[in-house]
Amino acid sequence: MKRFAVLFCAFLFCALSASAPALAQPAVGEGQRLFIQHCGLCHLKLQINMAAPFAPVLSKAIFENGRDAQIRTFIAEGTPNMPGFKYLFTEAQTAAIADYLKTVEAPAKPAPANR
Ligand code: HEC
Repeated sequence: MKRFAVLFCAFLFCALSASAPALAQPAVGEGQRLFIQHCGLCHLKLQINMAAPFAPVLSKAIFENGRDAQIRTFIAEGTPNMPGFKYLFTEAQTAAIADYLKTVEAPAKPAPANR
């Protein structure tokens, strides 16, 4: 019986350690990481009591009508209200952000205000 208990514990240990990698945090894509780190300040609603982010909410919708190249240039050059990122990111990093944004569903329209 004692031997069985020892074997059972050994089995349990192996089974648990084999499943350990599955418990590790899911990998966050490079584009998503860069977006949260460098763009979230303006483009994400960071707090629940924040009325709206400073800048427009970005999603796959901005890529409609084949604006892919335009969007990447926009991110690189910036505007008077948004910094340009051409000296910070490589083209591959900018493309990774764009690829991530293409996976973001457009936010649902807010429900009409209740008078
Ligand atoms: C300092 C705030 C700020 C930061 C940081 C910022 N943005 Fe912006 N962004 C804006 C504002 C404001 C606009 C709206 C256009 C304008 O007023 O110039 C904008 C517009 C955009 C647009 C155009 C949306 C459209 O519908 O055409 C894209 C794309 C964009 N930002 C991507 C990014 C990405 C990617 C990053 C991070 C690498 C980023 N922004 C960081 C403020 C910011």
